[in-house]
Amino acid sequence: MNLPDLKQARLRTDNLPQVLEAKNIKSDKFKGKNYFIRTYGCQMNVHDSEEIKGILENLGFSETEELEQADIVVLNTCAIRENAHDKVFGFLGRLKHLKKENPNLIICIGGCMPQESSVATLLKEKYPFVNIVFGTHNIDDLATLILAESKKQQIEVFSIEGNVYEHMDYVRDSSITAWVNIMYGCDKFCTYCIVPFTRGKQRSRKVKDILNEVQDLKNRGYKEVTLLGQNVNAYGKDLEEDYDFATLLENVAKTNIERIRFVTSHPWDFTDKMIDVIASFPNIMPYIHLPLQSGSSKILKLMGRRYTKEEYITLYNKIKERIPGVSITTDIIVGFPNETEEDFEETLDVVNTCKFDSAFTFIYSPREGTPASLIKDTIPLEVKEERLHKLNDVINSYSLSHNKEYIGKNEEVLVLGPSEKGEDKVYGYTKTMKLVNVSGAKEDIGKLINVHITDAKSFSLDGKKEIFIKN
Ligand code: 5AD
Ligand code: SF4
Repeated sequence: MNLPDLKQARLRTDNLPQVLEAKNIKSDKFKGKNYFIRTYGCQMNVHDSEEIKGILENLGFSETEELEQADIVVLNTCAIRENAHDKVFGFLGRLKHLKKENPNLIICIGGCMPQESSVATLLKEKYPFVNIVFGTHNIDDLATLILAESKKQQIEVFSIEGNVYEHMDYVRDSSITAWVNIMYGCDKFCTYCIVPFTRGKQRSRKVKDILNEVQDLKNRGYKEVTLLGQNVNAYGKDLEEDYDFATLLENVAKTNIERIRFVTSHPWDFTDKMIDVIASFPNIMPYIHLPLQSGSSKILKLMGRRYTKEEYITLYNKIKERIPGVSITTDIIVGFPNETEEDFEETLDVVNTCKFDSAFTFIYSPREGTPASLIKDTIPLEVKEERLHKLNDVINSYSLSHNKEYIGKNEEVLVLGPSEKGEDKVYGYTKTMKLVNVSGAKEDIGKLINVHITDAKSFSLDGKKEIFIKN
């Protein structure tokens, strides 16, 4: 793949990225000015936006949710599928008009899209009103780029991954549950996936830095952390010391923070030791996101997933047996090049065997520069859409029947905030990551409460706070 050649990567003397202290540049230059940020894509981007917010607030900006009030707009973009691009270019059209009314508006585009050379070139040639373009490897340079006040468009996108920064000033979206990066990038190179190109090779953070961050979050009253990485269970493989994800999980559990989650696990890196650790610590949540991608061994091979249909099912059953009450969700792509009706039936077969709690499903989207994009795609869109609908119907029926099993039970729920489902309601998640709308618990945001489940839908549960009456 042609990576951005607009500026060469910084030279580094060794192969491993250095661990550096974050720059956290502070200035009151933009005091009284507002920023508007829009985030597209995965949890990694959501967490990157928390870093970007920290950078902007250190420069004096305050957040606004009104685009018209903004003095600076940051779009943190996603490149995983073509429709993610379309959304950003659509929004850029709106920003162009806004800039006509307010020529001082600073427009910044960051995240995964600019890491694609074609996008960086397009922004340079067709979107000159965009002031700053930065990539995933140099978020930490954003303050410098903003302070530089260049009249010319500034494009700083590096093709080689940046350093690992510690002690960033995040502005976290929640004071109850927090994302904790444990690694950056991915070395798996699934043939359809752009992530190893946009986010670079795997770089694990140091164990002590992760544990310190979790401990600090716990001391500040956080109830839950989600360990984040594109392939969390490959954690440590790039470290000099001999240290794996299961050991990290165990040590995070020993901080005694109330709830620990982690995303995303690759089936190929899922060890027995991990299963044992998850099963033995009550504060590691019995919830695993385990992307299947396809149920056909032929397609899995073309995808470079490193497991067969049978191996996936064996792993799935082992996890189900050894972690009581575990819920397992998945990702599935339909319409990968050369996927026949029989291949698709194999996917349905795995879904019918595993009966996932829920799944994110996607139509395959060719990404420039990935090996799969070179395979001729002969499947008509209508066929792909038909497969997607069929798959979703099956998945939703299992989600509903899993959720119905909760009716009448009492579940521990971490309450996160007011619910959209009514003024008297709050929302939260069970240990197994089921969304619950709870009545009678308005005072309980931030707490773990016991909820009596009264009703179930495909995507959520309803419940009411269980009041214990002491004898
Ligand atoms: N087309 C469609 N879906 C994709 N995903 C990743 N790359 C593509 C692509 N090119 C899906 C995978 C992955 C999820 C985050 O996005 O299912 O697990
Ligand atoms: Fe992409 Fe595969 Fe890495 Fe996941 S494991 S980020 S699908 S390359």
